[in-house]
Amino acid sequence: MRIGLIGLGRIGSFHADTLAGLETVDELVVTDPVAAAVDAVTGRIPQARAVDSPQALLDSGVDGVVIAAATNTHAELIRAAVAKGVPTFCEKPVAGTIAESLAVERAVAGSDVPVQIGYPRRFDPAFVAARDAVRAGELGRITTVRSTTLDPAPPPAAYLAVSGGIFRDCSVHDFDAVRWVTGQEVVDVHAVGAVDPDAPEEMYAANGDHSSASVLLTLADGTIGVVSNTRTNGRGYDVRLEVHGVRDAVAAGLDEGLPLRSTQPGVTWPSGPAHEFFMDRLAQAFRLELAAFTRVATGAIDNPCTVADAMGTAWTAEAATLSASEHRPVSLEEVRGTAMQ
Ligand SMILES: NC(=O)c1ccc[n+]([C@@H]2O[C@H](COP(=O)([O-])OP(=O)(O)OC[C@H]3O[C@@H](n4cnc5c(N)ncnc54)[C@H](O)[C@@H]3O)[C@@H](O)[C@H]2O)c1
Repeated sequence: MRIGLIGLGRIGSFHADTLAGLETVDELVVTDPVAAAVDAVTGRIPQARAVDSPQALLDSGVDGVVIAAATNTHAELIRAAVAKGVPTFCEKPVAGTIAESLAVERAVAGSDVPVQIGYPRRFDPAFVAARDAVRAGELGRITTVRSTTLDPAPPPAAYLAVSGGIFRDCSVHDFDAVRWVTGQEVVDVHAVGAVDPDAPEEMYAANGDHSSASVLLTLADGTIGVVSNTRTNGRGYDVRLEVHGVRDAVAAGLDEGLPLRSTQPGVTWPSGPAHEFFMDRLAQAFRLELAAFTRVATGAIDNPCTVADAMGTAWTAEAATLSASEHRPVSLEEVRGTAMQ
């Protein structure tokens, strides 16, 4: 297959290696306005060749396209790919604003071109096992779901400025995991955010963004979700999900690389080294996710994360953003109603 890759920053460059390592991918057509990013990828990956623009890439006859460019480009690039009839994988989130996400949802609704949104935890074996246990009823009635994403260090200010803020950029992984594992939609959100007092103004405060956040979710059946996020977790990259039920409890992410130091006397677990970032913690999930996309592109399997599905996560992020800025609980019904006016 010939796969296009738009955007060769942190994750695009990583996806280039993952895609090149898939048996089914013979050629990569790549593009990024930053020449050094293009040269780095074409220099180390023999199957990669560069073109000048996303449109040139879509016109080159690729069998599918992976969009890993900055969040504020997603809506336009998805629409261009779908208009050209190219099966599309786009990194989370669907778009940087709910208005753009709705425009994407409308554009793809009338098309049979698949658009898969990238939520890699749906492919992480431990998250899959947690979901299977929940869906099989092994835990009994679920009382609480805790989902955690703690980044080791913040991305550059330029990334944060177009990211949509911590709830749309980071907490979305947790919102999606909670929805996907429980099969429940979020109905109500209460979010709080904090700003690192040592961070330069342009990183968070100038954009109304936060460096740490917590979100209480109420799911449709009354189950409580608890989400924790920070941009600066000194010990490493912490991605975890705990599901507590009246009969049993399970956790994903409790491996030797869990970045926590136990203060329990005599306990040496976890023995480390701690996960450093998504490249090591989620490498297998990304490989399985992109392999699944190549099969979606050929029509071999159903799309595992459609735009319509990812919109449930986008609405939750929208409600969390409003909740934190106005210091009050916000229902998804409220944000949906406002956006549709
Ligand atoms: N699934 C995950 O765990 C995960 C992790 C990191 C990032 N992401 C998502 O991936 C996207 C990129 O994140 P990143 O960390 O790589 O950001 P980044 O800032 O490191 O890279 C973005 C790249 O996009 C390029 N770009 C911008 N506009 C473009 C355009 N019109 N055409 C082609 N390239 C363009 C930039 O030059 C840059 O190289 C974001 O949407 C982010 O939310 C997902």
